[in-house]
Amino acid sequence: MQKFNKVAITTEDGTPTLYIEKLKELYHSRYGALTESQFVYINEGLIHWSKVSSDANDKCRVLELGYGTGLIAFLTYLNSSKIKKKIDYTSLEAYPISITQLKELNYDQFFKEKYQTKNFEEFSKLKWELKHQVATNFSIIKKEILFEKFIASDLYDIIFYDAFGAHAQPEIWAPELMKKCFDILKPGGVWVSYCAKGSVRRGLKISGFDVKRLPGPPGKREMLRGIKT
Ligand SMILES: C[S@@+](CC[C@H](N)C(=O)[O-])C[C@H]1O[C@@H](n2cnc3c(N)ncnc32)[C@H](O)[C@@H]1O
Repeated sequence: MQKFNKVAITTEDGTPTLYIEKLKELYHSRYGALTESQFVYINEGLIHWSKVSSDANDKCRVLELGYGTGLIAFLTYLNSSKIKKKIDYTSLEAYPISITQLKELNYDQFFKEKYQTKNFEEFSKLKWELKHQVATNFSIIKKEILFEKFIASDLYDIIFYDAFGAHAQPEIWAPELMKKCFDILKPGGVWVSYCAKGSVRRGLKISGFDVKRLPGPPGKREMLRGIKT
């Protein structure tokens, strides 16, 4: 993916994303990059978890695969005050995108009123492999690593599973990796993804998740959410 050329395109809600011509893959939905990210990961992931979680801990540990443009990580930061816990966000990325390419997306124009201590460009420049306390209720560490090689030192409350589609990257949706997700989540933990594929749903089920097909964001019929019961 590192070696593949990426170009910025505008999605249907007016927000940009990147497109890898060689793989015919987008970093977000063509029907709306920001709309999909907010719908799937913030509303059906983070906010849903905060409503159903009975965890007494004052932290919410989120794991994202993969960091990509950083849009979902940044949105989580912007939405962090909507939940009562402090978010510790870990994002994994095997093929980081250059700052120059991220700047071209110009995401800051969409968040003018909203950012607190950091704007999108400053957020993108945060150094890899270091934990940054961006606000009192949000810290992030970005790690350059394959999910397959990642060893979790602690359990997570939420996994944002945002890999490329199964046709481009079948190995990342295999049942063994769904089991890995199950193993690194706390009981009651939430796995959420834009993906609605039957084989992924079955992989989640055999790994032990209680899986639900949910109505998807605009332009997509369904998405998946699994709970570690
Ligand atoms: C759909 S894009 C992610 C979009 C991202 N969440 C965002 O907001 O821009 C998928 C990302 O996963 C990364 N990726 C693919 N395979 C991976 C792997 N095995 N481990 C870690 N990251 C991977 C890709 O390089 C890409 O950046």
